[in-house]
Amino acid sequence: MLLAPSILAADLADLAAAVQLCEQGGADLVHLDVMDGHFVPNLTFGAPLVRALEHRTDVPLDVHLMVEEPGRLLDDYLDAGAAWVSFHWEASVHPDRLLARIRQAKSRAGLVLNPATPVEVLTDILPSCDYVLLMSVNPGFAGQQFLPYVLEKVRRLRDMIRQRGLGVKIEIDGGIGERTIRPAIAAGAEICVAGSAVFGAEDPVDAMRHLRQLAETESV
Ligand code: DX5
Ligand code: ZN
Repeated sequence: MLLAPSILAADLADLAAAVQLCEQGGADLVHLDVMDGHFVPNLTFGAPLVRALEHRTDVPLDVHLMVEEPGRLLDDYLDAGAAWVSFHWEASVHPDRLLARIRQAKSRAGLVLNPATPVEVLTDILPSCDYVLLMSVNPGFAGQQFLPYVLEKVRRLRDMIRQRGLGVKIEIDGGIGERTIRPAIAAGAEICVAGSAVFGAEDPVDAMRHLRQLAETESV
């Protein structure tokens, strides 16, 4: 399991400290939620901020683009040093092209699906993805409740990947915490994003370790 704390839920006035906490907690990735105020109602991190944080840590940055027309902004985030970049299937007209651009830049390429989008839309594009991010809340905010029906999507996607012998990883994002991380892993998720469960905790470092322990005691 790769743990990707989302710093959207951290103290936004002190993101360098949030990234340091991720390091101390043994995070595998730092998840950055980029919102444009159009695709989702919220507005967050620009590419210069991503670049600044990239200079502060060796932990790879996992950039989740919740923006309309992701092709317009993609290169800025790749140049900023994002090691993993995903964008929404619902927001892109030519996802194939964008995935290829991410891979050309030697970053990992991901497609994101909203909760209501069935995994079957990925049938043909799956080999072009390094990972698929399944949203388990409707994107826009941290601290929302996990949607249990997404577990069935995780299982169906895991089966699609296995049947075709692909190495695509499944990431899950939204409402992941003590109660939901184990079912998510059991269903086939391999990368877990956690915002409030980490940064809403009294001790975020301890919360990261605890989540990892829970995930690792779940047999897949
Ligand atoms: C939601 C974001 C998530 C969010 C997760 O739109 O994509 O990454 O930060 O926060 P929690 O874990 O609190 O649901
Ligand atoms: Zn996210």
